[in-house]
Amino acid sequence: MAQIFPAYANTVARAAILGAAALGCLGLGLLIALPATSHVTRQDIIVEQPVQFSHEHHVGGLGIDCRYCHTSVEQSRFAGIPPTHTCMTCHSQLWTNAEILAPVRRSLAEGVPLRWQRVHVLPDYVYFDHSVHVTNGVGCSSCHGAINRMPQVRQVAPLTMGWCLSCHRDPAPNLRPESEIFNMDWKPPSDQAERGPKLLEHYGIRSAHLTDCSRCHR
Ligand code: HEC
Ligand code: HEC
Ligand code: HEC
Ligand code: HEC
Ligand code: HEC
Repeated sequence: MAQIFPAYANTVARAAILGAAALGCLGLGLLIALPATSHVTRQDIIVEQPVQFSHEHHVGGLGIDCRYCHTSVEQSRFAGIPPTHTCMTCHSQLWTNAEILAPVRRSLAEGVPLRWQRVHVLPDYVYFDHSVHVTNGVGCSSCHGAINRMPQVRQVAPLTMGWCLSCHRDPAPNLRPESEIFNMDWKPPSDQAERGPKLLEHYGIRSAHLTDCSRCHR
């Protein structure tokens, strides 16, 4: 019988099958492992920024209020990212020659906004609203962690549907009074089991429909 394939073809084929099998296992392994890893949820990734802005210094150290920079957090869906002139209210007098601030001065001089990269990103098909949360007893740190101790912002919570729902099913244990919304160190007090339901009533939260699909997918 005439040999159609050269002898080495067998070896090649075997290698290919072995390779495919190995890749298959790897693929399957990844499919199983990935959804559970923080890589998929973007947790704890450090995002490169045009200027290394430190919340640890500005919030933790200097005590600047979140709303000084994230001006629309109580009024709109979006917290907002500060424009260059917000930085320059201080940095036109402070650290005026610092190399680290050169991109900020250039942005002001050229009138081109700094291109801050997003750290938290929900898919487009999810509806989220900051104001609804922060005016109804949910503080920043419940979702963003201790921002006042972060030299660079990291995503602390998984931001998965399961995570949103775990609070929406039973918000009371996470609710705080108005005065604590911007307190990054707030922890539920020991009598939260009594305070929670009272806060639920105080804010007039009707938790019955908080898990309806249309709340977050509209
Ligand atoms: C002096 C201005 C300033 C203050 C005050 C400030 N921030 Fe920011 N914040 C920024 C800037 C600039 C960015 C974008 C760069 C970055 O992500 O580090 C940012 C980013 C963030 C992000 C990430 C946004 C994203 O891309 O997902 C969160 C969350 C955040 N700030 C929360 C807070 C909280 C909570 C407070 C108050 C405790 C606060 N910030 C106070 C300027 C400020
Ligand atoms: C209310 C005043 C104020 C505002 C507003 C402000 N800063 Fe600062 N910033 C300071 C002070 C004061 C320091 C020195 C901090 C220190 O030495 O601990 C500083 C330091 C810095 C530094 C040097 C590194 C560091 O973190 O110590 C950078 C970079 C910086 N700021 C960027 C920014 C940017 C970007 C903005 C706007 C989003 C901004 N700052 C808004 C007061 C301000
Ligand atoms: C219930 C959870 C939750 C709370 C409470 C919350 N955030 Fe957020 N924040 C998010 C999510 C989710 C995103 C990403 C939104 C997106 O991708 O559309 C985000 C994004 C941001 C951003 C990026 C810019 C923007 O407007 O989306 C900033 C800045 C921010 N948050 C600041 C704050 C501050 C300041 C507070 C407290 C006053 C706060 N957040 C409270 C969940 C929360
Ligand atoms: C720690 C608790 C908590 C977490 C986490 C949380 N929420 Fe909420 N959310 C609430 C509470 C409390 C309300 C009810 C406010 C009200 O109706 O009075 C609410 C209301 C809402 C509403 C209703 C707005 C409206 O106009 O009907 C949307 C949308 C929403 N949340 C989306 C989300 C999404 C998306 C996530 C996850 C990325 C999330 N929430 C995470 C506590 C939370
Ligand atoms: C409290 C907010 C919230 C509610 C209520 C909610 N979702 Fe989601 N949903 C999310 C978020 C956030 C994501 C994106 C993150 C993720 O995939 O986990 C998501 C993602 C999804 C996805 C894409 C999932 C994937 O694996 O790619 C589907 C499908 C979905 N939701 C269906 C539903 C259905 C059906 C309901 C009602 C039973 C519902 N959601 C209720 C917040 C919500």
